[in-house]
Amino acid sequence: MNSTQDPVTLLGTRNSLPQDLQTLLARYPRAHWQHHANLGEMSRFWLQRHDMFREIGSALSGGITDLREGRKNSGEFAGWFAPRLQFFLQQLTTHHHIEDNHYFPVFQRAEKRLEKGFVILESDHHIIHDFLGRTAASANEMFSALAGGGDRERRAVSSYAETNQQLLDLLRRHLEDEEDLIIPIVLDRGEDRLGIG
Ligand SMILES: [Fe+2]
Ligand SMILES: [Fe+2]
Repeated sequence: MNSTQDPVTLLGTRNSLPQDLQTLLARYPRAHWQHHANLGEMSRFWLQRHDMFREIGSALSGGITDLREGRKNSGEFAGWFAPRLQFFLQQLTTHHHIEDNHYFPVFQRAEKRLEKGFVILESDHHIIHDFLGRTAASANEMFSALAGGGDRERRAVSSYAETNQQLLDLLRRHLEDEEDLIIPIVLDRGEDRLGIG
């Protein structure tokens, strides 16, 4: 059985990084990250990118709620939402591409005992990528229904809201587990030794 199909490892069913991949995390818990001398520029920048995705994700959810509760009309919502969603989808795609091709191989080589974790994270990227496609299609359906009002608009907004929430839930789980796997490796080795400083 492919390890990525196991509910303990599969994005959408797991609740944390699998226990056997938390050995370094136990030595470098989150509470110690920010003040650790080995948390260098690259890692701080990378954590900020993750926070940016969390913030934009929350803002997108808030925008949909504003539309559904009448605080934004459909024209205001579309003008506000479309460029932010486009930025979010594009930046996420680029971010995953850089991780898959540049950073994951470095960490995989550095810490063989955690190698399985990077198979899981790459599988997450595929799942999220599929969801990005679904999110874009659902958003297009919503935008085309927005001007018309009535039941079609309500259904399209409701359907989009559900897809958007599923994407954000998957993304939040992925970001947290990715940080829990990678930051302890950085703190243990240091960015210069890893060749990412
Ligand atoms: Fe990632
Ligand atoms: Fe990431």
